Amino acid sequence: MSTAFIEFRGVTKAFSGKPVLRGMSLAVDKGEVMFIIGTSGVGKSVTIKHLIGLLRIDEGEIWFDGARVDQLPERALAPLRKRIGMVFQSSTLFDSMTLAENVALPLRKHGKLSHNDALAEARERLAQVYMAEYADRYPAELSDGMRKRAAIARTLALSPEVVLFDEPTTGLDPVSARRVDRLIRELADKLGMTAIVVSHDPPSIFGVADRVAFLYRGVVHVVATPAELRASPDPVVQQFITGRSKGPMETPGF
Ligand SMILES: Nc1ncnc2c1ncn2[C@@H]1O[C@H](COP(=O)(O)OP(=O)(O)OP(=O)(O)O)[C@@H](O)[C@H]1O
Ligand SMILES: [Mg+2]
Repeated sequence: MSTAFIEFRGVTKAFSGKPVLRGMSLAVDKGEVMFIIGTSGVGKSVTIKHLIGLLRIDEGEIWFDGARVDQLPERALAPLRKRIGMVFQSSTLFDSMTLAENVALPLRKHGKLSHNDALAEARERLAQVYMAEYADRYPAELSDGMRKRAAIARTLALSPEVVLFDEPTTGLDPVSARRVDRLIRELADKLGMTAIVVSHDPPSIFGVADRVAFLYRGVVHVVATPAELRASPDPVVQQFITGRSKGPMETPGF
């Protein structure tokens, strides 16, 4: 059993014999905004993909709302993914559909709305991410930042209880980035949504996170509030948050 809302317990994962996760554990509370940070290639995206069965763990356990989810059969994953939405690192919008049609798609499919009702709802969801005026544009006509915001609107369309954000502000201008930050904070504060956010973006990490999990060498090295992280005497943590190239930290591939 797990009493945490979301819990990774002793998770290991290797690709072609090369270990990525080596017994990582992390508990996330309901309504919390938990950030996962760490160097490129350390296993941040892999970690969150495990939660919705996009990748399978080798050993360990993953719990969500009192149930084990790491061994669910394929047919049980659709209901899980309705409760836990994911905004991917790169945009996954359909190029042949307008933004409104993209956001309406899950509403028609899972929300069982009519075509017109789904489109009306989609426009409201796009307004939530400041994209109302672009509802009738195609993804190819937009900037990366606009596509990212539309992808967030699509994930939020089904009102998931948990949203996994994989680098939601990477590549955005500072104004758009802070808007995304504010949206994540509001989702948690006003709707009680739980968020797990993978990020490299210091203003997001220090401005939005309730707690931060620092992934290093295949385990969660530290879990701390942003203030605790800043004050941490740990040399690896300090090297990461100050962005120094020299220090104890090794980066895979460098
Ligand atoms: N489907 C896969 N097949 C094989 N190897 C994979 C797969 N997915 C991830 N990996 C490997 O697992 C390691 C961790 O990848 P992951 O995508 O989680 O990194 P990350 O921490 O999200 O990095 P970044 O900050 O660059 O996005 C990398 O070495 C990557 O090559
Ligand atoms: Mg990644």
